[in-house]
Amino acid sequence: MTVMTATNEPKFDVDAVRKDFPILSRQVHGKKLVFLDSAASAQKPRQVIDTLRSVYEDEYANVHRGAYFLSEQATSRYEGAREKVREFIGAAHAHEIIFTRNATESINLVARSYGKEFLKAGDEVIISELEHHSNIVPWQMLRDEIGIVLKTTPISDAGEFLLDDFKAVLSDRTKLVALAHMSNVLGTILPVREIIDLSHAAGAKVLLDGCQSVVHQPVDMVGLGCDFYAFSGHKLYGPSGIGVLYGREELLDAMPPFLGGGDMISSVTLEQSKWAKLPHKFEAGTPAIAPTIGLGAALDYVNALGLENIGAHEAELLAYANQQLAQIPGLTLIGTAPGKGSVISFTLDCAHPHDIATIVDRSGVAVRAGHHCAQPLMQRFGIPAATRASFGLYNRRDEVDALVDALGQVREIFG
Ligand code: ALA
Repeated sequence: MTVMTATNEPKFDVDAVRKDFPILSRQVHGKKLVFLDSAASAQKPRQVIDTLRSVYEDEYANVHRGAYFLSEQATSRYEGAREKVREFIGAAHAHEIIFTRNATESINLVARSYGKEFLKAGDEVIISELEHHSNIVPWQMLRDEIGIVLKTTPISDAGEFLLDDFKAVLSDRTKLVALAHMSNVLGTILPVREIIDLSHAAGAKVLLDGCQSVVHQPVDMVGLGCDFYAFSGHKLYGPSGIGVLYGREELLDAMPPFLGGGDMISSVTLEQSKWAKLPHKFEAGTPAIAPTIGLGAALDYVNALGLENIGAHEAELLAYANQQLAQIPGLTLIGTAPGKGSVISFTLDCAHPHDIATIVDRSGVAVRAGHHCAQPLMQRFGIPAATRASFGLYNRRDEVDALVDALGQVREIFG
């Protein structure tokens, strides 16, 4: 995957990396697949696919339950994945890593457990204009149930997070700040260091939706002092059906369970139950055993390439794509914040995003079109929808060229 130069500096070899992803060699509509939708869900390397197969073929059993060999093997691989996640995000303890289905469930867990237990009517929760629905709807549901006040902090026309406006919304009534680390539409990377410091100074806890950011840059929970961090495995080249919630030990310890059932208890009578210790208190029922172990394999894969190398490769591709797309008449970029991550959303004056996505698909180019689960952000920009190209570690310049050519065909059709 990574080749070494004469000076022993690692160099990112995208052609070698692509060979790890079997799906990238397939055709779509008779054309080479150009997959530019990794922000929705990334493709999987052979190393992850082989791990899933090996779990089911060689070592499958339920975890935490059996005293027999296979169950112990499966448990050891499952808990091994938890340790890999801990290391990947720089958490202090493996029991601060809670496995969920996806980032959406992780955020709902915080809203339903922390929110219902520790927030009360009149307490303020701050979100921003650029949030994904998964970091809006759970807070609206909590507002409607217990009467918290939901505040919104604005973004600029370029899609930048505005720290001064955030400071103006933040007060001693703020109890929780819930923000995306990186926007799935704009690519904006939020100044989380400053946000966390300001929020803590105001006495508020911070939840970050790290779905888009953990894929492109290293994160460090202890260094950041983050309270909660949510992300999904499927955007990280791992399987779908596995998500992560990081929470600081003292917070998770104080929180009530989210779901009740097997594996989350220490004892049960017909009258009452006692809860298991972390992390099991939040993992009721049989978990996603193989996807969790597969996530561990995905982290091994990303670590071997190096997140810094991946980020640098994607930043170079983003710069190239910006340059090429800027030459298309009638194309408007949505989100131009400096230092943004590798997603490009845009509109074209001659065609609706759904038509654009359908037409470029005929050339084998897969992009996402629509509101991107961020309707308030679309309203902020006064558009019903946008087209989005998002880059992963396996994308190349010739795929940007393929997108540009396909957009030329859109222009030819719609004039
Ligand atoms: N959150 C995913 C996206 O941005 C689904 O496409």
